[in-house]
Amino acid sequence: MSHSDLNPSWQKDSTVVILAGGKASRMRGTKSKAFEIICSKSIIDHQLSTIQDSGIKQVVIVINPVFEKDFCTLKEQYPSLSIRLAMQSEAKGTAHATMQALPFIESSKTIIIAGDTPLITKNILTNALNDLKSCHLTVAVYDNPEGFGRIIRNSEGQIQQIVEQKDCTTEQASVKEANTGILSAATSILKKYCPQISNTNQQKEFYLTDLVHLLVKDGHEIQSNQVTEPWQAKGVNTPQELCDLERAYSSAQCERLIAQGVKIKDAQRFDCRGQLFCGKNVTIDINVIIEGVVHLGDDVSVGASCVLRNCTIEKASIVKPFSIIEDSYVHESAQIGPYAYCRNQTRVGKSSEIGCFVESKQTVIGDGSKAKHLSYLGNLSIGKNVNIGAGVIHCNYDGRQKHTSNIGDYAFIGANTNIVAPLSISANATIAAGSTITKAVPENALAISRARQENKANWKSRQKQSEQCSTPIT
Ligand code: UD1
Ligand code: CA
Repeated sequence: MSHSDLNPSWQKDSTVVILAGGKASRMRGTKSKAFEIICSKSIIDHQLSTIQDSGIKQVVIVINPVFEKDFCTLKEQYPSLSIRLAMQSEAKGTAHATMQALPFIESSKTIIIAGDTPLITKNILTNALNDLKSCHLTVAVYDNPEGFGRIIRNSEGQIQQIVEQKDCTTEQASVKEANTGILSAATSILKKYCPQISNTNQQKEFYLTDLVHLLVKDGHEIQSNQVTEPWQAKGVNTPQELCDLERAYSSAQCERLIAQGVKIKDAQRFDCRGQLFCGKNVTIDINVIIEGVVHLGDDVSVGASCVLRNCTIEKASIVKPFSIIEDSYVHESAQIGPYAYCRNQTRVGKSSEIGCFVESKQTVIGDGSKAKHLSYLGNLSIGKNVNIGAGVIHCNYDGRQKHTSNIGDYAFIGANTNIVAPLSISANATIAAGSTITKAVPENALAISRARQENKANWKSRQKQSEQCSTPIT
């Protein structure tokens, strides 16, 4: 078992307390800070998914009761977690907030995190708990002082206290080591010492960080664990910090990818808001946005201004500029875009082409098939080597329900065809351009469904006739 994995009995016997009861006045928003969006998810969503990954099941969130409704929905979103809400009607400080959570904690170990640290990792959580094997209290620290509580050590290097920036002497303020706000402790210690914390400080708040000083006084040793990448533990208090953290995360991902050999055209114009996994020789042009989990195979190239969200693109495929691919799978050597929109379980086959202004949804496009211009392909199953002409629409919605259709291998769908679902177009069928198809087309058949063209000889429109007769105005 690696250090980053928790022993299952520890997972069961631990609770994460999220302090989210603050007023968020510095954020100047209308909602709880926990619901601010960063890297395409709310702060609380980030935290709960990370807790889920760590295997810890019990969570207590301290909230302001005015936001109770918003937080209640989280219980349904994370059924595998046992989430309890503790109310703090007045924000009197982080120790006061923790006190509201204590009656809900049943486990013997507790980890406390601030509700404004979205990018906290599973490793930080598990390290904080694992370190409790040899002490009663740990704090996670980083070199990131501005605005944060300073870690004050004695000459032997033992932690003595945490002093908030506003309460620091000049000497204390010069300390580089800062408190991340992530703390783990034996629950019994929290229950014993939190009630002893007072609010005699600059902000007249009950500071959780005062625990350190109280424990040291009673002869307890405090352990620290170093968070090497500050963005992982950084708290956000203002819109500017939200913006800076989003950039810091993206830059860290960008650096990692470039080190692995990914050719990113311009690190400043690349936004990674999720997790990107790349094979060899991947190139990414400017203004690309990555969200959720994205896998790019060897030799994939992504053109400028594409958005890739929860998708896999296999080797040697090309995504041309201004395309959006979400919740979809693209097989090898395919070409997507420019201006394509593949969404909701689209599967693009090997060597297939989805071109300009083509939207696909819940659609399978077989190997070697092409839809290169101006089409809507929703709820459709397309076989191999099918040609979808320009402007083909799969009319999948009858006003009440969505219907599906199939197109067999080697079928040819002429330009500007409407396929009125549900129906089946069999292999090798040909649909004449401009047809509206409402019933099944058998194998090898040609279907034409459009008004026959009539040519009227020597006919001039009334408009033209009247133009010729009228006397010009002078
Ligand atoms: C806190 C730490 C500081 C640390 C920093 C790291 C304290 C006293 N200070 O400062 O040492 O460097 O985090 O980001 O703990 N909250 C409540 N109820 C309250 C007050 C706060 O639930 O009464 C919540 C807030 O919603 C927030 C979290 O606790 O999510 C931290 O509070 P915040 O005011 O942001 O503390 P900082 O000043 O950032
Ligand atoms: Ca904070």
